[in-house]
Amino acid sequence: MSESLPRQGLEFSRDEMREIGYRVIDMLVDYYNDRAEKPVAEALDYEALEAILREPLPRAGMPWREALEQFERQVVDSSNRVDHPRFFAYIPLANNFIGVMADALAAGYNVFNAVWRQGPGAAQIERLTVDWLRQIFGLPEAAGGTFVSGGSVANLTALAVAREIQLQGDMGGAVAYCSDQIHFAVSRGMRLLGFAPEQLRKLPSDAGFRLPVADLRRAIAEDRAAGMRPFCVIASAGTTNTGAVDPLDELADFCAGEGLWLHVDGAYGAPAVLTEHGAPALKGLERVDSLALDAHKWLFQPIECGVVLLRDRRWLAQTFKEASEVLKDMQSEGEELNFMYQGIQLTRQFRALKLWLSFKVFGLDAISEAIAAGFENAVLAERLLRAEGCWEIVTPAQMAILTFRYRPANGDAALASRVTHDLVARLLDDGFAFAAGTQLRGQPVMRMCCNNPRTTPEDLERTIQLMTRLAAELEAEPRGAVIG
Ligand SMILES: Cc1ncc(COP(=O)(O)O)c(C=O)c1O
Repeated sequence: MSESLPRQGLEFSRDEMREIGYRVIDMLVDYYNDRAEKPVAEALDYEALEAILREPLPRAGMPWREALEQFERQVVDSSNRVDHPRFFAYIPLANNFIGVMADALAAGYNVFNAVWRQGPGAAQIERLTVDWLRQIFGLPEAAGGTFVSGGSVANLTALAVAREIQLQGDMGGAVAYCSDQIHFAVSRGMRLLGFAPEQLRKLPSDAGFRLPVADLRRAIAEDRAAGMRPFCVIASAGTTNTGAVDPLDELADFCAGEGLWLHVDGAYGAPAVLTEHGAPALKGLERVDSLALDAHKWLFQPIECGVVLLRDRRWLAQTFKEASEVLKDMQSEGEELNFMYQGIQLTRQFRALKLWLSFKVFGLDAISEAIAAGFENAVLAERLLRAEGCWEIVTPAQMAILTFRYRPANGDAALASRVTHDLVARLLDDGFAFAAGTQLRGQPVMRMCCNNPRTTPEDLERTIQLMTRLAAELEAEPRGAVIG
Protein backbone atom coordinates (compact mmCIF):
# COMPACT_ATOMS: atom_id res chain seq x y z
CA MET A 1 0.00 0.00 0.00
CA SER A 2 1.36 3.43 -0.91
CA GLU A 3 1.47 6.28 1.56
CA SER A 4 -0.85 9.23 0.88
CA LEU A 5 0.49 12.72 1.39
CA PRO A 6 -0.46 15.28 2.56
CA ARG A 7 -1.48 13.54 5.77
CA GLN A 8 -4.23 14.89 8.09
CA GLY A 9 -2.52 16.35 11.13
CA LEU A 10 -0.58 13.80 13.17
CA GLU A 11 -2.78 10.82 12.37
CA PHE A 12 -2.25 7.66 10.37
CA SER A 13 -4.99 5.43 9.07
CA ARG A 14 -5.41 2.00 10.63
CA ASP A 15 -3.81 0.40 7.55
CA GLU A 16 -0.89 2.79 7.58
CA MET A 17 -0.29 2.08 11.24
CA ARG A 18 -0.16 -1.63 10.50
CA GLU A 19 2.18 -1.06 7.59
CA ILE A 20 4.57 1.04 9.66
CA GLY A 21 4.47 -1.52 12.46
CA TYR A 22 5.14 -4.48 10.16
CA ARG A 23 7.99 -2.61 8.50
CA VAL A 24 9.58 -1.81 11.86
CA ILE A 25 9.21 -5.43 13.00
CA ASP A 26 10.76 -6.66 9.75
CA MET A 27 13.72 -4.34 10.26
CA LEU A 28 14.25 -5.62 13.80
CA VAL A 29 13.79 -9.29 12.93
CA ASP A 30 16.36 -8.96 10.14
CA TYR A 31 18.71 -7.17 12.49
CA TYR A 32 18.42 -9.86 15.16
CA ASN A 33 18.98 -12.68 12.70
CA ASP A 34 21.70 -11.14 10.52
CA ARG A 35 23.63 -9.27 13.21
CA ALA A 36 26.37 -11.84 13.69
CA GLU A 37 27.22 -11.75 9.95
CA LYS A 38 27.72 -7.99 10.00
CA PRO A 39 30.79 -6.18 11.25
CA VAL A 40 30.71 -4.95 14.84
CA ALA A 41 31.95 -1.51 13.92
CA GLU A 42 31.33 0.53 10.82
CA ALA A 43 30.88 3.91 12.48
CA LEU A 44 31.52 6.95 10.33
CA ASP A 45 33.41 9.93 11.66
CA TYR A 46 31.78 13.18 12.71
CA GLU A 47 32.40 15.06 9.45
CA ALA A 48 31.04 12.24 7.31
CA LEU A 49 27.88 11.93 9.41
CA GLU A 50 27.40 15.67 9.55
CA ALA A 51 27.57 15.78 5.75
CA ILE A 52 24.97 13.03 5.45
CA LEU A 53 22.52 13.98 8.18
CA ARG A 54 22.60 17.77 8.43
CA GLU A 55 19.46 19.28 6.93
CA PRO A 56 17.12 22.19 7.68
CA LEU A 57 14.33 21.62 10.21
CA PRO A 58 11.57 20.14 8.02
CA ARG A 59 8.45 22.31 7.68
CA ALA A 60 6.56 19.70 5.71
CA GLY A 61 6.51 15.95 6.34
CA MET A 62 7.94 13.21 4.15
CA PRO A 63 6.81 9.62 3.50
CA TRP A 64 7.44 7.52 6.61
CA ARG A 65 9.01 4.78 4.51
CA GLU A 66 11.76 7.10 3.32
CA ALA A 67 12.38 8.42 6.82
CA LEU A 68 12.69 4.85 8.13
CA GLU A 69 15.03 3.94 5.29
CA GLN A 70 17.20 6.93 6.09
CA PHE A 71 17.31 5.85 9.74
CA GLU A 72 18.28 2.30 8.80
CA ARG A 73 20.90 3.26 6.23
CA GLN A 74 22.47 6.29 7.83
CA VAL A 75 21.99 5.83 11.56
CA VAL A 76 21.86 2.08 12.26
CA ASP A 77 24.51 1.20 9.73
CA SER A 78 26.84 3.90 11.02
CA SER A 79 26.70 2.82 14.67
CA ASN A 80 28.79 0.23 16.46
CA ARG A 81 26.71 -2.76 17.51
CA VAL A 82 26.92 -3.09 21.28
CA ASP A 83 24.78 -6.25 21.22
CA HIS A 84 26.91 -7.98 18.59
CA PRO A 85 28.39 -11.32 19.70
CA ARG A 86 31.89 -10.03 18.89
CA PHE A 87 31.50 -6.76 20.81
CA PHE A 88 33.63 -7.14 23.95
CA ALA A 89 34.18 -3.48 24.86
CA TYR A 90 32.93 -1.67 27.98
CA ILE A 91 29.88 -3.67 29.09
CA PRO A 92 28.24 -5.33 26.07
CA LEU A 93 24.49 -4.77 26.04
CA ALA A 94 23.04 -8.06 24.88
CA ASN A 95 19.33 -7.34 24.94
CA ASN A 96 16.49 -9.71 24.11
CA PHE A 97 13.56 -9.54 21.73
CA ILE A 98 10.70 -9.85 24.21
CA GLY A 99 12.24 -6.97 26.15
CA VAL A 100 12.33 -4.92 22.95
CA MET A 101 8.66 -5.65 22.31
CA ALA A 102 7.86 -4.75 25.90
CA ASP A 103 9.44 -1.34 25.34
CA ALA A 104 7.22 -0.89 22.29
CA LEU A 105 4.17 -1.81 24.38
CA ALA A 106 5.15 0.49 27.24
CA ALA A 107 5.58 3.34 24.77
CA GLY A 108 2.46 2.43 22.81
CA TYR A 109 0.12 2.23 25.78
CA ASN A 110 1.87 5.25 27.30
CA VAL A 111 1.45 3.86 30.78
CA PHE A 112 1.67 6.56 33.44
CA ASN A 113 3.10 4.74 36.40
CA ALA A 114 3.52 7.55 38.89
CA VAL A 115 0.38 7.55 41.05
CA TRP A 116 -1.49 4.44 42.02
CA ARG A 117 -4.94 5.06 40.58
CA GLN A 118 -3.62 6.22 37.25
CA GLY A 119 -1.94 2.88 36.57
CA PRO A 120 -2.51 0.39 39.38
CA GLY A 121 -1.72 -2.65 37.24
CA ALA A 122 1.59 -1.19 36.15
CA ALA A 123 2.45 -0.12 39.70
CA GLN A 124 1.68 -3.63 40.90
CA ILE A 125 3.88 -5.17 38.19
CA GLU A 126 6.71 -2.85 39.13
CA ARG A 127 6.29 -3.75 42.82
CA LEU A 128 6.25 -7.46 41.94
CA THR A 129 9.29 -7.28 39.67
CA VAL A 130 11.21 -5.31 42.27
CA ASP A 131 10.19 -7.97 44.78
CA TRP A 132 11.51 -10.76 42.50
CA LEU A 133 14.81 -8.88 42.38
CA ARG A 134 14.71 -8.52 46.16
CA GLN A 135 14.36 -12.29 46.42
CA ILE A 136 17.18 -12.89 43.94
CA PHE A 137 19.53 -10.75 46.02
CA GLY A 138 18.32 -12.15 49.33
CA LEU A 139 17.21 -8.83 50.81
CA PRO A 140 14.60 -8.85 53.63
CA GLU A 141 10.87 -8.59 52.93
CA ALA A 142 10.80 -4.96 54.02
CA ALA A 143 13.11 -4.08 51.14
CA GLY A 144 11.85 -2.47 47.98
CA GLY A 145 12.91 -0.21 45.20
CA THR A 146 12.17 1.39 41.90
CA PHE A 147 13.09 1.25 38.24
CA VAL A 148 15.25 4.07 36.90
CA SER A 149 17.05 4.77 33.63
CA GLY A 150 20.27 2.92 34.43
CA GLY A 151 23.19 2.35 36.75
CA SER A 152 24.17 6.02 37.02
CA VAL A 153 20.73 7.08 38.23
CA ALA A 154 20.42 3.97 40.42
CA ASN A 155 23.65 4.95 42.19
CA LEU A 156 22.59 8.60 42.41
CA THR A 157 19.20 7.65 43.85
CA ALA A 158 20.72 5.30 46.42
CA LEU A 159 23.25 7.91 47.52
CA ALA A 160 20.49 10.53 47.80
CA VAL A 161 18.65 8.14 50.13
CA ALA A 162 21.82 7.45 52.11
CA ARG A 163 22.35 11.19 52.54
CA GLU A 164 18.75 11.72 53.64
CA ILE A 165 18.45 8.79 56.03
CA GLN A 166 21.97 8.60 57.37
CA LEU A 167 22.82 12.31 57.53
CA GLN A 168 19.30 13.77 57.95
CA GLY A 169 20.30 16.42 55.42
CA ASP A 170 23.40 17.68 57.32
CA MET A 171 26.34 17.04 55.01
CA GLY A 172 28.95 18.98 57.03
CA GLY A 173 32.09 16.87 57.51
CA ALA A 174 30.38 13.77 56.11
CA VAL A 175 32.66 11.34 54.25
CA ALA A 176 31.94 8.32 52.04
CA TYR A 177 34.57 5.69 51.15
CA CYS A 178 35.24 3.56 48.10
CA SER A 179 38.15 2.14 46.15
CA ASP A 180 39.94 3.82 43.26
CA GLN A 181 38.16 1.32 40.99
CA ILE A 182 34.70 2.74 41.62
CA HIS A 183 32.70 3.69 38.53
CA PHE A 184 32.69 7.40 37.73
CA ALA A 185 28.88 7.36 38.05
CA VAL A 186 29.44 7.24 41.83
CA SER A 187 31.85 10.20 41.89
CA ARG A 188 29.49 12.15 39.66
CA GLY A 189 26.49 11.24 41.82
CA MET A 190 28.27 12.41 44.97
CA ARG A 191 29.22 15.71 43.31
CA LEU A 192 25.67 16.28 42.07
CA LEU A 193 24.38 15.65 45.59
CA GLY A 194 26.55 18.51 46.78
CA PHE A 195 29.47 16.64 48.33
CA ALA A 196 32.94 18.19 47.89
CA PRO A 197 35.57 15.98 46.21
CA GLU A 198 37.29 15.27 49.55
CA GLN A 199 33.99 13.94 50.93
CA LEU A 200 34.42 10.87 48.72
CA ARG A 201 37.60 9.16 49.88
CA LYS A 202 38.93 6.87 47.15
CA LEU A 203 41.32 4.38 48.73
CA PRO A 204 43.99 2.64 46.65
CA SER A 205 42.72 -0.81 45.71
CA ASP A 206 44.61 -3.96 46.70
CA ALA A 207 46.53 -6.28 44.36
CA GLY A 208 43.21 -7.78 43.20
CA PHE A 209 41.72 -4.29 42.58
CA ARG A 210 39.43 -4.61 45.62
CA LEU A 211 38.70 -2.22 48.47
CA PRO A 212 41.12 -3.17 51.30
CA VAL A 213 39.14 -3.40 54.54
CA ALA A 214 42.18 -2.82 56.80
CA ASP A 215 42.96 0.45 55.00
CA LEU A 216 39.30 1.42 55.15
CA ARG A 217 39.22 0.82 58.89
CA ARG A 218 42.36 2.95 59.36
CA ALA A 219 41.06 5.80 57.15
CA ILE A 220 37.76 5.92 59.00
CA ALA A 221 39.43 5.93 62.42
CA GLU A 222 41.71 8.77 61.32
CA ASP A 223 38.83 10.78 59.91
CA ARG A 224 36.79 10.30 63.08
CA ALA A 225 39.76 11.44 65.16
CA ALA A 226 39.98 14.53 62.93
CA GLY A 227 36.32 15.36 63.62
CA MET A 228 34.90 14.13 60.30
CA ARG A 229 31.65 12.12 60.03
CA PRO A 230 32.13 8.89 58.07
CA PHE A 231 28.66 7.81 56.93
CA CYS A 232 28.83 5.47 53.96
CA VAL A 233 30.94 2.78 52.30
CA ILE A 234 30.45 2.30 48.57
CA ALA A 235 31.52 -1.09 47.27
CA SER A 236 31.56 -2.64 43.80
CA ALA A 237 29.95 -5.96 42.93
CA GLY A 238 32.01 -6.29 39.77
CA THR A 239 34.08 -3.30 38.69
CA THR A 240 33.90 -2.22 35.08
CA ASN A 241 37.68 -2.37 34.70
CA THR A 242 38.41 -5.91 35.87
CA GLY A 243 35.21 -7.43 37.28
CA ALA A 244 36.72 -7.30 40.79
CA VAL A 245 34.20 -7.74 43.60
CA ASP A 246 34.89 -5.93 46.87
CA PRO A 247 34.78 -8.14 49.99
CA LEU A 248 31.08 -7.58 50.56
CA ASP A 249 30.56 -9.84 53.56
CA GLU A 250 33.53 -8.38 55.40
CA LEU A 251 32.39 -4.86 54.51
CA ALA A 252 28.88 -5.65 55.76
CA ASP A 253 30.35 -6.78 59.12
CA PHE A 254 32.47 -3.68 59.28
CA CYS A 255 29.64 -1.28 58.37
CA ALA A 256 27.27 -2.94 60.86
CA GLY A 257 29.87 -2.51 63.63
CA GLU A 258 30.57 1.11 62.74
CA GLY A 259 26.99 2.26 62.04
CA LEU A 260 27.83 3.00 58.39
CA TRP A 261 25.59 2.74 55.35
CA LEU A 262 26.71 0.08 52.88
CA HIS A 263 25.90 0.90 49.28
CA VAL A 264 26.88 -1.52 46.53
CA ASP A 265 27.24 -0.62 42.89
CA GLY A 266 26.08 -3.87 41.35
CA ALA A 267 25.23 -2.26 38.00
CA TYR A 268 27.38 -4.72 36.16
CA GLY A 269 27.99 -7.78 38.31
CA ALA A 270 25.16 -8.28 40.79
CA PRO A 271 23.04 -10.62 38.58
CA ALA A 272 25.92 -13.11 38.66
CA VAL A 273 24.56 -14.12 42.05
CA LEU A 274 22.25 -16.35 40.01
CA THR A 275 25.16 -18.59 39.00
CA GLU A 276 27.38 -20.98 40.88
CA HIS A 277 30.35 -19.04 39.46
CA GLY A 278 29.24 -15.68 40.83
CA ALA A 279 27.39 -16.49 44.05
CA PRO A 280 30.43 -17.19 46.28
CA ALA A 281 32.16 -13.91 45.37
CA LEU A 282 28.94 -11.98 45.91
CA LYS A 283 28.25 -13.32 49.37
CA GLY A 284 27.19 -10.41 51.54
CA LEU A 285 25.07 -8.76 48.86
CA GLU A 286 22.02 -9.70 50.93
CA ARG A 287 23.26 -7.41 53.73
CA VAL A 288 23.51 -4.10 51.87
CA ASP A 289 21.53 -0.97 52.70
CA SER A 290 21.23 -0.04 49.04
CA LEU A 291 22.04 -1.72 45.75
CA ALA A 292 22.30 -0.22 42.26
CA LEU A 293 21.42 -2.60 39.42
CA ASP A 294 21.37 -2.34 35.66
CA ALA A 295 19.09 -4.89 34.02
CA HIS A 296 20.24 -3.59 30.60
CA LYS A 297 23.65 -5.12 31.31
CA TRP A 298 23.66 -8.65 32.66
CA LEU A 299 19.89 -9.21 32.73
CA PHE A 300 19.71 -8.70 28.96
CA GLN A 301 17.19 -5.86 28.76
CA PRO A 302 17.12 -3.08 26.18
CA ILE A 303 18.72 0.20 27.29
CA GLU A 304 17.31 1.80 29.76
CA CYS A 305 16.59 -0.53 32.66
CA GLY A 306 18.21 0.42 35.95
CA VAL A 307 16.88 -0.53 39.36
CA VAL A 308 17.68 0.71 42.85
CA LEU A 309 16.91 -1.51 45.83
CA LEU A 310 16.74 -0.29 49.43
CA ARG A 311 16.84 -2.41 52.55
CA ASP A 312 13.74 -0.56 53.82
CA ARG A 313 11.38 0.53 51.06
CA ARG A 314 10.01 3.40 53.15
CA TRP A 315 13.36 5.19 52.80
CA LEU A 316 12.59 6.12 49.20
CA ALA A 317 9.33 7.85 50.10
CA GLN A 318 11.11 9.61 52.97
CA THR A 319 13.66 10.97 50.51
CA PHE A 320 11.42 11.90 47.59
CA LYS A 321 8.48 13.19 49.56
CA GLU A 322 7.37 16.44 47.87
CA ALA A 323 3.55 16.46 47.78
CA SER A 324 1.53 17.22 44.67
CA GLU A 325 -1.83 18.99 44.95
CA VAL A 326 -2.76 18.03 41.40
CA LEU A 327 -2.15 14.31 41.86
CA LYS A 328 -3.27 13.95 45.46
CA ASP A 329 -6.64 12.35 44.73
CA MET A 330 -5.03 9.73 42.52
CA GLN A 331 -2.43 8.45 44.95
CA SER A 332 -2.76 5.49 47.25
CA GLU A 333 -2.41 5.61 51.01
CA GLY A 334 0.47 3.15 50.82
CA GLU A 335 3.07 5.68 49.71
CA GLU A 336 5.36 3.07 48.24
CA LEU A 337 2.77 2.37 45.56
CA ASN A 338 3.01 5.90 44.17
CA PHE A 339 6.18 5.70 42.17
CA MET A 340 6.42 9.47 41.91
CA TYR A 341 7.56 9.29 45.56
CA GLN A 342 10.19 6.68 44.84
CA GLY A 343 12.68 8.70 42.84
CA ILE A 344 13.53 11.77 40.83
CA GLN A 345 11.04 11.32 37.97
CA LEU A 346 7.34 12.03 38.04
CA THR A 347 6.29 11.01 34.52
CA ARG A 348 8.28 7.87 33.86
CA GLN A 349 8.36 5.01 31.42
CA PHE A 350 6.98 1.62 32.48
CA ARG A 351 10.45 0.04 32.49
CA ALA A 352 9.51 -2.84 34.75
CA LEU A 353 7.40 -4.34 31.97
CA LYS A 354 10.39 -5.59 29.98
CA LEU A 355 12.02 -7.33 32.92
CA TRP A 356 8.68 -8.75 34.12
CA LEU A 357 7.93 -10.16 30.66
CA SER A 358 11.47 -11.54 30.32
CA PHE A 359 11.25 -13.34 33.67
CA LYS A 360 7.87 -14.79 32.70
CA VAL A 361 8.72 -15.79 29.13
CA PHE A 362 12.22 -17.19 29.71
CA GLY A 363 12.09 -18.16 33.37
CA LEU A 364 14.90 -17.62 35.83
CA ASP A 365 16.75 -20.82 34.85
CA ALA A 366 17.28 -19.71 31.26
CA ILE A 367 18.40 -16.28 32.40
CA SER A 368 20.83 -17.81 34.91
CA GLU A 369 22.27 -20.05 32.19
CA ALA A 370 22.76 -17.05 29.91
CA ILE A 371 24.70 -15.32 32.69
CA ALA A 372 26.78 -18.44 33.32
CA ALA A 373 27.69 -18.53 29.60
CA GLY A 374 29.54 -15.24 30.11
CA PHE A 375 31.75 -16.79 32.79
CA GLU A 376 32.55 -19.75 30.56
CA ASN A 377 33.35 -17.55 27.57
CA ALA A 378 35.74 -15.39 29.58
CA VAL A 379 37.59 -18.47 30.82
CA LEU A 380 37.88 -19.71 27.23
CA ALA A 381 39.09 -16.29 26.06
CA GLU A 382 41.80 -16.36 28.73
CA ARG A 383 42.90 -19.83 27.63
CA LEU A 384 43.03 -18.81 23.98
CA LEU A 385 45.03 -15.67 24.76
CA ARG A 386 47.55 -17.64 26.81
CA ALA A 387 47.92 -20.13 23.96
CA GLU A 388 48.89 -17.35 21.52
CA GLY A 389 52.03 -16.77 23.59
CA CYS A 390 52.21 -13.01 22.92
CA TRP A 391 49.73 -11.85 25.55
CA GLU A 392 50.29 -11.30 29.25
CA ILE A 393 47.14 -11.84 31.32
CA VAL A 394 46.96 -8.87 33.71
CA THR A 395 43.76 -9.91 35.52
CA PRO A 396 42.36 -13.38 34.87
CA ALA A 397 38.76 -14.05 33.93
CA GLN A 398 36.47 -12.96 36.74
CA MET A 399 32.82 -12.01 36.42
CA ALA A 400 33.20 -12.56 32.65
CA ILE A 401 35.89 -9.85 32.33
CA LEU A 402 39.63 -10.23 31.66
CA THR A 403 42.45 -7.78 30.98
CA PHE A 404 45.71 -8.38 29.13
CA ARG A 405 48.69 -6.67 27.52
CA TYR A 406 50.70 -7.36 24.44
CA ARG A 407 54.00 -9.08 25.25
CA PRO A 408 56.63 -8.53 22.54
CA ALA A 409 59.33 -11.18 22.22
CA ASN A 410 62.02 -8.70 23.30
CA GLY A 411 60.10 -7.81 26.50
CA ASP A 412 60.22 -4.07 25.71
CA ALA A 413 57.63 -2.49 28.10
CA ALA A 414 57.26 0.73 26.07
CA LEU A 415 56.60 -1.29 22.92
CA ALA A 416 54.06 -3.42 24.82
CA SER A 417 52.24 -0.26 25.92
CA ARG A 418 52.27 1.25 22.43
CA VAL A 419 50.91 -1.87 20.75
CA THR A 420 48.31 -2.47 23.48
CA HIS A 421 47.13 1.11 23.30
CA ASP A 422 47.05 1.40 19.50
CA LEU A 423 45.31 -1.93 19.04
CA VAL A 424 41.94 -0.43 19.97
CA ALA A 425 41.94 2.00 17.02
CA ARG A 426 43.17 -0.77 14.73
CA LEU A 427 40.30 -3.03 15.80
CA LEU A 428 37.80 -0.26 15.17
CA ASP A 429 39.23 0.26 11.69
CA ASP A 430 38.95 -3.45 10.97
CA GLY A 431 35.40 -3.70 12.32
CA PHE A 432 35.15 -7.52 12.57
CA ALA A 433 35.27 -7.53 16.37
CA PHE A 434 35.77 -4.92 19.05
CA ALA A 435 37.45 -4.87 22.44
CA ALA A 436 38.50 -1.64 24.13
CA GLY A 437 41.35 -0.79 26.44
CA THR A 438 41.53 0.66 29.91
CA GLN A 439 44.26 1.79 32.33
CA LEU A 440 45.35 -0.24 35.32
CA ARG A 441 47.92 1.32 37.66
CA GLY A 442 48.75 3.80 34.92
CA GLN A 443 49.44 1.10 32.29
CA PRO A 444 47.33 0.59 29.15
CA VAL A 445 45.67 -2.82 29.06
CA MET A 446 43.24 -4.48 26.69
CA ARG A 447 40.02 -5.70 28.13
CA MET A 448 37.32 -8.14 27.08
CA CYS A 449 33.91 -8.37 28.69
CA CYS A 450 32.28 -11.61 27.57
CA ASN A 451 28.79 -11.31 29.07
CA ASN A 452 26.95 -11.71 25.75
CA PRO A 453 25.49 -15.25 25.77
CA ARG A 454 25.30 -15.21 21.96
CA THR A 455 29.10 -15.18 21.68
CA THR A 456 30.31 -18.54 20.34
CA PRO A 457 33.70 -20.21 20.86
CA GLU A 458 34.38 -19.47 17.19
CA ASP A 459 33.69 -15.74 17.78
CA LEU A 460 36.29 -15.81 20.55
CA GLU A 461 38.85 -17.74 18.49
CA ARG A 462 38.54 -15.44 15.48
CA THR A 463 38.62 -12.29 17.61
CA ILE A 464 41.77 -13.36 19.44
CA GLN A 465 43.47 -14.44 16.21
CA LEU A 466 42.62 -11.03 14.76
CA MET A 467 44.04 -9.21 17.79
CA THR A 468 47.24 -11.23 17.57
CA ARG A 469 47.63 -10.45 13.85
CA LEU A 470 46.91 -6.72 14.29
CA ALA A 471 49.27 -6.53 17.28
CA ALA A 472 52.07 -8.16 15.25
CA GLU A 473 51.48 -5.64 12.46
CA LEU A 474 51.60 -2.78 14.95
CA GLU A 475 54.81 -4.12 16.46
CA ALA A 476 56.40 -4.20 13.00
CA GLU A 477 55.44 -0.59 12.31
CA PRO A 478 57.99 2.16 12.93
CA ARG A 479 57.99 3.53 16.46
CA GLY A 480 55.60 6.43 17.04
CA ALA A 481 53.24 5.52 14.18
CA VAL A 482 49.87 6.96 15.11
CA ILE A 483 46.72 5.15 14.16
CA GLY A 484 43.19 6.47 13.96
C1 LIG B 1 29.91 -0.79 37.55
C2 LIG B 1 29.09 0.24 36.83
N1 LIG B 1 28.41 1.15 37.54
C3 LIG B 1 27.65 2.09 36.95
C4 LIG B 1 27.54 2.15 35.58
C5 LIG B 1 26.68 3.21 34.94
O1 LIG B 1 25.52 2.62 34.42
P1 LIG B 1 24.66 3.30 33.25
O2 LIG B 1 25.57 3.37 32.07
O3 LIG B 1 23.52 2.39 33.03
O4 LIG B 1 24.25 4.65 33.72
C6 LIG B 1 28.24 1.23 34.80
C7 LIG B 1 28.16 1.29 33.32
O5 LIG B 1 28.90 0.65 32.61
C8 LIG B 1 29.02 0.23 35.44
O6 LIG B 1 29.69 -0.69 34.73
